[in-house]
Amino acid sequence: MVDEPRRKVRVALLFGGRSGEHAISAATAAGVMKAIDREKYDVLPIGITREGQWVLTAGDPSRFELTTGRLPEVTRESGTELVGLSDVGDVDVVFPVLHGPFGEDGTVQGLLELADVRYVGCGVLASAVAMDKHYMKLVFAGHGLPVGPYVVVQPREWEQRQAEVVARVSDQLKFPVFVKPARAGSSLGVTRVDDLSGLAEAIEEARFHDPKVLVEQGIEGREIECAVLGGRSGAAPRASVPGEIVVDHDSAQFYDFEEKYSSDSHARTQAPADLPADVAEKVRDLAVRAFEAIGGEGISRVDVFVTPDGEAVINEINTMPGFTPISMYPKMWEATGLTYPELIDELIQLALERPTGLR
Ligand SMILES: Nc1ncnc2c1ncn2[C@@H]1O[C@H](COP(=O)(O)OP(=O)(O)O)[C@@H](O)[C@H]1O
Ligand SMILES: [Mg+2]
Repeated sequence: MVDEPRRKVRVALLFGGRSGEHAISAATAAGVMKAIDREKYDVLPIGITREGQWVLTAGDPSRFELTTGRLPEVTRESGTELVGLSDVGDVDVVFPVLHGPFGEDGTVQGLLELADVRYVGCGVLASAVAMDKHYMKLVFAGHGLPVGPYVVVQPREWEQRQAEVVARVSDQLKFPVFVKPARAGSSLGVTRVDDLSGLAEAIEEARFHDPKVLVEQGIEGREIECAVLGGRSGAAPRASVPGEIVVDHDSAQFYDFEEKYSSDSHARTQAPADLPADVAEKVRDLAVRAFEAIGGEGISRVDVFVTPDGEAVINEINTMPGFTPISMYPKMWEATGLTYPELIDELIQLALERPTGLR
């Protein structure tokens, strides 16, 4: 008897979406579509428009690449409109390469749990905790992990008692401070503020993205990142070699949206980071502990500041980090010995291994 050829694994790639990081997500999808092993996987590229409409996209994925001067976008014209996932038939696994609110925050994960479809990456709670920089810090601090000083500005408080907020910032924090939306990404709405006079304007700017705002004390240090990958078959999570974001501070204040994505950026990334062995080990250990603190699964990138005296302070954890072929997450795994196509395969296999629900 001849063996039936094994059916390929059907992967729905979800990208675009309702957040400010729509274009970055589309660029990631282009990278994944080009690199994924087509012998093993059938890919259903499902774009989500800025309004939330799902579209089965057609044609060459390269049109979603991040090319100079143009941000890619999913529109209703990108393909055939769908009512939902069930429109495309059986799907073995979903890879939600979505960043920010309505994608990286547990909402899509909740939908997939309800539909009983396996998916790549963190579950509902881990995604939601990591999306909200306020709760993220509470969870880290609750696990004894190092975070910097900060003040939370709740919507009602800012609308009714601005003077109290200003007083709290000047009492509790030293300048410069970083003002940021609680739930955003790609540095959208983040402003460095050097004295009290710029505070209100920066808070208003952040509120444009999220009515809840964080004011953080600026931390002097190198920006070091570490990629975490879930463990296979119940094994412990794995940490990559750390990488570094090197920002030319004469030309750019910090690692803002422009520096992250423009072609004439004053920032460059390096993996592995040039760190003393003990500091690199400390960062890797902290990354795994941060991942476990939020109950992470599959994938996350942990970003830390390494201070001049070699201490590591966590800035944030991203449960769906930038994932284009040149993004830091794949780059750090590349430097650790896992190529981009291997990494995509590994993430999907991890997702297939894990049932939905309380398993
Ligand atoms: N507390 C801080 N101290 C120093 N720099 C900071 C601080 N917070 C943010 N930054 C700078 O702003 C960038 C974006 O902030 P981050 O909190 O990582 O937001 P996002 O989630 O949008 O990436 C960081 O990569 C860093 O360059
Ligand atoms: Mg960041």
